Amino acid sequence: MNLNKFNWNELWRQQAAMQQDPFALEMVKRRHASGSKSPMGLLDCTLLYALTRWRKPMVVVETGGFLGMSSAFILKALADEHLSTSKLHSIEWMEDCPHGSLIPEELRSGFVPMRGKVEDFIAKGALPKRVDMFLHDSSHRRAHMLMEYEYFWDRMSDGDV
Ligand SMILES: C[S@@+](CC[C@H](N)C(=O)[O-])C[C@H]1O[C@@H](n2cnc3c(N)ncnc32)[C@H](O)[C@@H]1O
Repeated sequence: MNLNKFNWNELWRQQAAMQQDPFALEMVKRRHASGSKSPMGLLDCTLLYALTRWRKPMVVVETGGFLGMSSAFILKALADEHLSTSKLHSIEWMEDCPHGSLIPEELRSGFVPMRGKVEDFIAKGALPKRVDMFLHDSSHRRAHMLMEYEYFWDRMSDGDV
């Protein structure tokens, strides 16, 4: 991301506005009702929302999709920017996880759930060749994080986030 081109004031304005938005309040309620222990808090999710609106990505990849708290905010930002052809590839390996179950129905058209391990998708070459936006939220082991960062960095350009 080139910080010289970045409008921080607009980013904070959008993040603050989303924190008061009925969508965010509804998502917090859904997460609470699911009993999820996802560490993705309102601050993280609303920042993710504002960054997505700023970047207007065509291709997003997130690792560690889980119930879809982060996914929902990315998809909401894509919808609010009218990016109807953009896709969110969300990777989750846990077999018994209702992957993306928190995502509201009307935001699901751009959601591409991928069940399996990030490293297996990488080995199979099954991920998009170009990525405009990447969110790491899978295993937080150092070696795994570095592996993901190195892989996705090579698929991103200046201005991507
Ligand atoms: C912190 S949670 C993700 C929370 C999610 N982003 C949200 O907003 O609710 C981490 C998830 O990463 C998944 N995970 C861990 N290692 C993984 C791997 N190597 N490949 C795919 N998913 C993985 C776990 O199963 C877990 O559901």
